Amino acid sequence: PRVAVVFGGRNSEHAVSIMGAGSVLEVIDRSKYEVVPIGIAQDGRWVLASGDQRYVIEGGELPSVEVRGTELALPAGGGPLVTYEAGRVPVELGQVDVVFPVMHGPFAEDGTIQGLLEMAGVRYVGSGVLASAVGMDKAYMKMVLAASGLPVGRHVVIRDRDWRVDRDRVLKEVQELGWPVFVKPARAGSSQGISKAATMEELERAIEFAREHDPKVLVEAAITGREIECAVLQSPGDGAPRASVPGEVLVHGDHEFFDFEAKYIGGGMSLVAPADIPEAVAEDLRAMAVRAFEALGCEGLARVDFFYTPDGRLILNEINTMPGFTALSVAPQLWAATGLPYAELVDRLIQLALE
Ligand code: DAL
Ligand code: MG
Repeated sequence: PRVAVVFGGRNSEHAVSIMGAGSVLEVIDRSKYEVVPIGIAQDGRWVLASGDQRYVIEGGELPSVEVRGTELALPAGGGPLVTYEAGRVPVELGQVDVVFPVMHGPFAEDGTIQGLLEMAGVRYVGSGVLASAVGMDKAYMKMVLAASGLPVGRHVVIRDRDWRVDRDRVLKEVQELGWPVFVKPARAGSSQGISKAATMEELERAIEFAREHDPKVLVEAAITGREIECAVLQSPGDGAPRASVPGEVLVHGDHEFFDFEAKYIGGGMSLVAPADIPEAVAEDLRAMAVRAFEALGCEGLARVDFFYTPDGRLILNEINTMPGFTALSVAPQLWAATGLPYAELVDRLIQLALE
Protein backbone atom coordinates (compact mmCIF):
# COMPACT_ATOMS: atom_id res chain seq x y z
CA PRO A 1 0.00 0.00 0.00
CA ARG A 2 0.98 3.62 -0.52
CA VAL A 3 1.16 5.59 2.69
CA ALA A 4 1.28 9.37 2.73
CA VAL A 5 2.94 10.60 5.91
CA VAL A 6 1.64 14.14 6.33
CA PHE A 7 3.32 16.57 8.71
CA GLY A 8 3.81 20.21 9.61
CA GLY A 9 0.59 22.16 9.44
CA ARG A 10 -0.81 25.59 10.11
CA ASN A 11 -0.35 25.79 13.84
CA SER A 12 2.09 26.27 16.68
CA GLU A 13 2.88 22.56 16.89
CA HIS A 14 4.29 22.57 13.36
CA ALA A 15 7.78 21.59 14.49
CA VAL A 16 6.58 18.96 16.96
CA SER A 17 4.69 17.32 14.13
CA ILE A 18 7.75 17.29 11.87
CA MET A 19 9.81 15.61 14.58
CA GLY A 20 7.16 12.91 14.95
CA ALA A 21 6.98 12.37 11.20
CA GLY A 22 10.79 12.10 11.07
CA SER A 23 10.59 9.20 13.52
CA VAL A 24 7.78 7.53 11.58
CA LEU A 25 9.67 7.87 8.31
CA GLU A 26 12.70 6.28 9.92
CA VAL A 27 10.95 3.12 11.08
CA ILE A 28 8.15 2.59 8.58
CA ASP A 29 8.61 -0.72 6.79
CA ARG A 30 9.52 0.22 3.23
CA SER A 31 9.42 -3.37 2.05
CA LYS A 32 5.73 -3.32 2.92
CA TYR A 33 4.69 0.25 2.20
CA GLU A 34 5.48 2.77 -0.45
CA VAL A 35 5.99 5.99 1.47
CA VAL A 36 5.09 9.48 0.28
CA PRO A 37 6.25 12.22 2.67
CA ILE A 38 4.09 15.33 2.47
CA GLY A 39 4.68 18.55 4.37
CA ILE A 40 2.12 21.26 5.06
CA ALA A 41 3.83 24.63 5.34
CA GLN A 42 2.91 27.23 7.96
CA ASP A 43 0.94 29.05 5.28
CA GLY A 44 -1.08 25.92 4.48
CA ARG A 45 0.57 24.91 1.21
CA TRP A 46 1.10 21.18 0.69
CA VAL A 47 4.45 20.07 -0.67
CA LEU A 48 6.07 16.83 -1.57
CA ALA A 49 8.90 16.75 0.97
CA SER A 50 12.29 16.97 -0.57
CA GLY A 51 15.37 15.04 0.50
CA ASP A 52 16.70 18.02 2.40
CA GLN A 53 13.68 18.36 4.67
CA ARG A 54 15.00 18.54 8.25
CA TYR A 55 13.07 16.55 10.87
CA VAL A 56 15.00 17.34 14.03
CA ILE A 57 15.99 20.32 16.17
CA GLU A 58 19.44 21.43 15.06
CA GLY A 59 21.49 24.00 16.94
CA GLY A 60 18.37 24.92 18.88
CA GLU A 61 16.51 25.55 15.66
CA LEU A 62 13.12 23.95 15.18
CA PRO A 63 12.45 22.22 11.86
CA SER A 64 9.85 23.63 9.48
CA VAL A 65 8.33 22.73 6.14
CA GLU A 66 9.84 24.85 3.38
CA VAL A 67 8.01 25.31 0.13
CA ARG A 68 10.58 24.40 -2.47
CA GLY A 69 9.73 22.85 -5.80
CA THR A 70 6.79 20.53 -5.96
CA GLU A 71 3.53 21.70 -4.48
CA LEU A 72 0.53 19.44 -4.15
CA ALA A 73 -3.07 20.10 -4.84
CA LEU A 74 -5.34 18.90 -2.05
CA PRO A 75 -6.71 15.41 -2.55
CA ALA A 76 -10.16 15.91 -3.99
CA GLY A 77 -13.10 13.81 -5.08
CA GLY A 78 -11.48 10.55 -4.08
CA GLY A 79 -9.03 11.00 -6.91
CA PRO A 80 -5.28 10.83 -6.87
CA LEU A 81 -3.15 13.50 -5.31
CA VAL A 82 -1.99 15.85 -8.01
CA THR A 83 1.33 17.63 -7.81
CA TYR A 84 2.28 20.69 -9.69
CA GLU A 85 5.25 22.95 -9.93
CA ALA A 86 4.79 26.59 -10.67
CA GLY A 87 4.49 27.04 -14.40
CA ARG A 88 4.50 23.33 -15.18
CA VAL A 89 2.02 20.72 -16.25
CA PRO A 90 0.56 18.90 -13.21
CA VAL A 91 2.13 15.59 -12.29
CA GLU A 92 -0.04 12.86 -10.90
CA LEU A 93 1.14 11.41 -7.67
CA GLY A 94 -1.26 8.54 -7.98
CA GLN A 95 -3.64 6.96 -5.52
CA VAL A 96 -2.83 7.02 -1.84
CA ASP A 97 -4.18 4.11 0.19
CA VAL A 98 -3.80 5.65 3.59
CA VAL A 99 -2.78 8.98 5.05
CA PHE A 100 -0.91 9.12 8.34
CA PRO A 101 -1.43 12.65 9.62
CA VAL A 102 1.36 12.90 12.18
CA MET A 103 0.11 16.32 13.17
CA HIS A 104 -1.07 18.10 16.26
CA GLY A 105 -3.24 21.08 17.06
CA PRO A 106 -5.61 23.15 14.94
CA PHE A 107 -5.95 22.17 11.25
CA ALA A 108 -4.26 18.89 12.08
CA GLU A 109 -5.66 17.13 15.10
CA ASP A 110 -9.00 18.92 15.30
CA GLY A 111 -11.13 17.17 12.70
CA THR A 112 -10.36 19.52 9.84
CA ILE A 113 -7.87 17.42 7.90
CA GLN A 114 -9.89 14.38 8.94
CA GLY A 115 -12.95 15.97 7.30
CA LEU A 116 -10.97 16.75 4.18
CA LEU A 117 -9.84 13.14 3.94
CA GLU A 118 -13.36 11.86 4.57
CA MET A 119 -14.63 13.99 1.71
CA ALA A 120 -11.84 12.77 -0.53
CA GLY A 121 -12.60 9.17 0.42
CA VAL A 122 -9.07 8.54 1.62
CA ARG A 123 -8.42 6.35 4.65
CA TYR A 124 -6.35 7.76 7.46
CA VAL A 125 -4.72 6.88 10.74
CA GLY A 126 -6.35 7.96 13.98
CA SER A 127 -9.59 9.46 15.16
CA GLY A 128 -12.37 10.73 12.93
CA VAL A 129 -13.88 14.18 12.66
CA LEU A 130 -15.95 14.38 15.83
CA ALA A 131 -13.50 12.72 18.23
CA SER A 132 -10.70 14.86 16.86
CA ALA A 133 -12.70 18.06 17.19
CA VAL A 134 -13.87 17.27 20.71
CA GLY A 135 -10.39 16.17 21.75
CA MET A 136 -8.89 19.39 20.46
CA ASP A 137 -11.22 21.69 22.37
CA LYS A 138 -10.47 21.40 26.05
CA ALA A 139 -13.87 22.87 27.02
CA TYR A 140 -15.89 20.32 25.05
CA MET A 141 -13.45 17.57 25.92
CA LYS A 142 -14.07 18.09 29.63
CA MET A 143 -17.80 18.37 29.05
CA VAL A 144 -17.93 15.00 27.30
CA LEU A 145 -15.61 13.32 29.80
CA ALA A 146 -17.58 14.67 32.77
CA ALA A 147 -20.88 13.63 31.18
CA SER A 148 -19.43 10.12 30.91
CA GLY A 149 -18.83 10.07 34.63
CA LEU A 150 -15.10 10.62 34.42
CA PRO A 151 -13.47 12.90 37.01
CA VAL A 152 -12.28 16.20 35.53
CA GLY A 153 -10.82 19.18 37.36
CA ARG A 154 -12.67 22.38 38.20
CA HIS A 155 -12.41 24.96 35.46
CA VAL A 156 -13.95 28.03 33.90
CA VAL A 157 -14.41 28.53 30.17
CA ILE A 158 -13.91 32.08 28.89
CA ARG A 159 -15.35 32.61 25.44
CA ASP A 160 -14.26 35.55 23.35
CA ARG A 161 -17.43 37.51 24.02
CA ASP A 162 -17.33 36.79 27.78
CA TRP A 163 -13.91 38.36 27.85
CA ARG A 164 -14.82 41.36 25.77
CA VAL A 165 -18.17 42.29 27.34
CA ASP A 166 -18.47 40.45 30.64
CA ARG A 167 -14.97 40.57 32.05
CA ASP A 168 -15.86 41.31 35.68
CA ARG A 169 -18.22 38.37 35.95
CA VAL A 170 -15.66 36.06 34.38
CA LEU A 171 -12.89 37.19 36.69
CA LYS A 172 -15.14 36.66 39.69
CA GLU A 173 -15.95 33.16 38.54
CA VAL A 174 -12.26 32.40 38.15
CA GLN A 175 -11.49 33.69 41.64
CA GLU A 176 -13.77 31.02 43.04
CA LEU A 177 -11.35 28.39 41.73
CA GLY A 178 -8.74 29.61 44.23
CA TRP A 179 -5.10 30.36 43.40
CA PRO A 180 -3.03 29.48 41.53
CA VAL A 181 -4.75 28.63 38.27
CA PHE A 182 -3.53 27.41 34.90
CA VAL A 183 -4.68 29.41 31.92
CA LYS A 184 -4.80 27.65 28.57
CA PRO A 185 -5.96 28.30 25.04
CA ALA A 186 -8.94 25.94 24.57
CA ARG A 187 -7.58 24.63 21.30
CA ALA A 188 -3.80 24.32 21.28
CA GLY A 189 -1.22 21.80 22.36
CA SER A 190 2.32 21.15 23.52
CA SER A 191 1.68 23.61 26.36
CA GLN A 192 1.77 26.57 23.98
CA GLY A 193 0.00 29.65 25.28
CA ILE A 194 -0.26 28.16 28.77
CA SER A 195 0.74 30.02 31.89
CA LYS A 196 0.23 29.88 35.60
CA ALA A 197 -1.38 32.76 37.47
CA ALA A 198 -1.39 33.41 41.19
CA THR A 199 -2.80 36.93 41.27
CA MET A 200 -5.50 38.91 39.51
CA GLU A 201 -2.87 40.80 37.57
CA GLU A 202 -1.13 37.63 36.41
CA LEU A 203 -4.49 36.18 35.52
CA GLU A 204 -5.38 39.00 33.14
CA ARG A 205 -1.97 38.76 31.53
CA ALA A 206 -2.27 34.97 31.26
CA ILE A 207 -5.67 35.25 29.60
CA GLU A 208 -4.37 37.75 27.05
CA PHE A 209 -1.42 35.44 26.39
CA ALA A 210 -3.66 32.41 25.86
CA ARG A 211 -5.88 34.49 23.60
CA GLU A 212 -2.96 34.94 21.22
CA HIS A 213 -3.51 31.26 20.39
CA ASP A 214 -7.26 31.00 20.72
CA PRO A 215 -10.03 33.48 21.56
CA LYS A 216 -11.52 30.74 23.71
CA VAL A 217 -9.64 30.21 26.96
CA LEU A 218 -9.82 27.71 29.78
CA VAL A 219 -8.86 28.47 33.35
CA GLU A 220 -8.20 25.42 35.48
CA ALA A 221 -7.81 25.13 39.23
CA ALA A 222 -4.28 23.92 39.98
CA ILE A 223 -4.22 20.27 40.93
CA THR A 224 -1.53 18.97 43.23
CA GLY A 225 -0.59 15.54 42.12
CA ARG A 226 1.72 13.31 40.15
CA GLU A 227 1.33 13.38 36.37
CA ILE A 228 0.48 9.91 35.16
CA GLU A 229 -0.20 9.24 31.49
CA CYS A 230 -1.60 6.22 29.73
CA ALA A 231 -1.90 5.41 26.04
CA VAL A 232 -4.82 3.64 24.43
CA LEU A 233 -4.62 1.68 21.20
CA GLN A 234 -7.19 -0.30 19.29
CA SER A 235 -6.56 -4.00 18.93
CA PRO A 236 -6.35 -5.53 15.50
CA GLY A 237 -9.41 -7.55 14.56
CA ASP A 238 -12.13 -6.59 17.02
CA GLY A 239 -10.88 -3.01 17.39
CA ALA A 240 -11.21 -3.14 21.17
CA PRO A 241 -9.31 -0.30 22.81
CA ARG A 242 -6.60 -1.46 25.20
CA ALA A 243 -4.57 0.60 27.63
CA SER A 244 -0.79 0.63 27.95
CA VAL A 245 0.99 0.54 31.28
CA PRO A 246 0.68 3.95 32.94
CA GLY A 247 3.81 6.08 33.07
CA GLU A 248 4.81 8.95 35.31
CA VAL A 249 6.12 12.16 33.80
CA LEU A 250 8.82 13.81 35.84
CA VAL A 251 9.66 17.40 35.02
CA HIS A 252 13.22 18.44 35.80
CA GLY A 253 15.00 21.70 36.43
CA ASP A 254 13.27 24.98 36.97
CA HIS A 255 10.26 24.43 34.73
CA GLU A 256 7.16 25.67 36.53
CA PHE A 257 5.15 22.96 34.84
CA PHE A 258 5.39 20.56 31.92
CA ASP A 259 6.00 23.35 29.40
CA PHE A 260 7.11 23.37 25.78
CA GLU A 261 10.82 23.55 26.63
CA ALA A 262 10.57 20.71 29.11
CA LYS A 263 8.75 18.66 26.52
CA TYR A 264 10.99 19.14 23.54
CA ILE A 265 14.28 20.85 24.34
CA GLY A 266 16.30 17.98 25.76
CA GLY A 267 16.51 16.81 29.32
CA GLY A 268 13.48 18.67 30.64
CA MET A 269 11.49 15.58 31.43
CA SER A 270 11.70 11.88 31.95
CA LEU A 271 9.18 9.12 31.92
CA VAL A 272 9.01 6.30 34.43
CA ALA A 273 7.09 3.43 32.84
CA PRO A 274 5.45 1.55 34.37
CA ALA A 275 4.67 4.24 36.93
CA ASP A 276 5.44 3.38 40.52
CA ILE A 277 1.84 3.44 41.77
CA PRO A 278 -0.30 0.83 43.53
CA GLU A 279 -1.55 -1.91 41.22
CA ALA A 280 -5.20 -1.11 41.98
CA VAL A 281 -4.69 2.53 41.06
CA ALA A 282 -2.99 1.53 37.81
CA GLU A 283 -5.95 -0.70 36.96
CA ASP A 284 -8.46 2.08 37.68
CA LEU A 285 -6.45 4.48 35.63
CA ARG A 286 -6.24 2.14 32.66
CA ALA A 287 -9.97 1.48 32.78
CA MET A 288 -10.63 5.22 32.90
CA ALA A 289 -8.31 5.80 29.93
CA VAL A 290 -10.27 3.29 27.87
CA ARG A 291 -13.55 4.88 28.95
CA ALA A 292 -12.26 8.29 27.90
CA PHE A 293 -11.25 6.87 24.51
CA GLU A 294 -14.72 5.46 24.07
CA ALA A 295 -16.50 8.53 25.44
CA LEU A 296 -15.07 10.60 22.60
CA GLY A 297 -15.37 7.81 20.06
CA CYS A 298 -11.64 7.80 19.33
CA GLU A 299 -10.02 5.56 16.77
CA GLY A 300 -6.48 4.27 16.47
CA LEU A 301 -4.50 5.79 19.26
CA ALA A 302 -4.83 8.33 22.05
CA ARG A 303 -2.94 9.42 25.12
CA VAL A 304 -4.88 10.13 28.29
CA ASP A 305 -3.29 12.30 30.98
CA PHE A 306 -4.15 12.12 34.67
CA PHE A 307 -3.24 13.65 37.98
CA TYR A 308 -2.83 11.28 40.90
CA THR A 309 -3.41 13.31 44.04
CA PRO A 310 -1.73 12.77 47.42
CA ASP A 311 -5.10 11.67 48.86
CA GLY A 312 -5.32 8.93 46.25
CA ARG A 313 -7.73 10.38 43.69
CA LEU A 314 -7.33 10.22 39.93
CA ILE A 315 -8.34 13.28 37.94
CA LEU A 316 -8.46 13.12 34.18
CA ASN A 317 -6.65 16.14 32.78
CA GLU A 318 -6.96 15.56 29.06
CA ILE A 319 -6.98 13.25 26.11
CA ASN A 320 -4.89 13.76 22.98
CA THR A 321 -6.12 12.11 19.83
CA MET A 322 -2.77 12.44 18.05
CA PRO A 323 -0.28 12.46 20.88
CA GLY A 324 3.35 13.49 20.44
CA PHE A 325 4.71 10.79 18.21
CA THR A 326 8.49 10.79 18.04
CA ALA A 327 10.05 7.48 19.06
CA LEU A 328 10.89 9.11 22.40
CA SER A 329 7.49 10.70 23.00
CA VAL A 330 5.36 9.52 25.87
CA ALA A 331 2.76 7.42 24.02
CA PRO A 332 5.31 5.44 21.99
CA GLN A 333 7.42 4.96 25.11
CA LEU A 334 4.40 3.69 27.02
CA TRP A 335 3.69 1.17 24.30
CA ALA A 336 7.32 0.12 24.20
CA ALA A 337 7.13 -0.47 27.97
CA THR A 338 3.99 -2.53 27.38
CA GLY A 339 5.78 -4.72 24.84
CA LEU A 340 4.94 -3.02 21.56
CA PRO A 341 8.05 -1.43 20.02
CA TYR A 342 7.73 1.81 18.08
CA ALA A 343 8.05 0.31 14.59
CA GLU A 344 5.28 -2.17 15.40
CA LEU A 345 3.11 0.61 16.79
CA VAL A 346 3.48 2.52 13.52
CA ASP A 347 2.62 -0.59 11.56
CA ARG A 348 -0.39 -1.36 13.77
CA LEU A 349 -1.81 2.13 13.25
CA ILE A 350 -1.47 1.90 9.48
CA GLN A 351 -3.05 -1.56 9.48
CA LEU A 352 -5.95 -0.33 11.62
CA ALA A 353 -6.58 2.45 9.13
CA LEU A 354 -6.50 0.01 6.22
CA GLU A 355 -8.89 -2.48 7.85
N1 DAL B 1 0.02 17.96 21.72
C1 DAL B 1 1.21 17.17 21.97
C2 DAL B 1 1.86 16.78 20.71
C3 DAL B 1 0.90 16.00 22.81
O1 DAL B 1 -0.18 15.93 23.31
O2 DAL B 1 1.75 15.14 22.95
MG1 MG C 1 -3.60 18.27 24.39
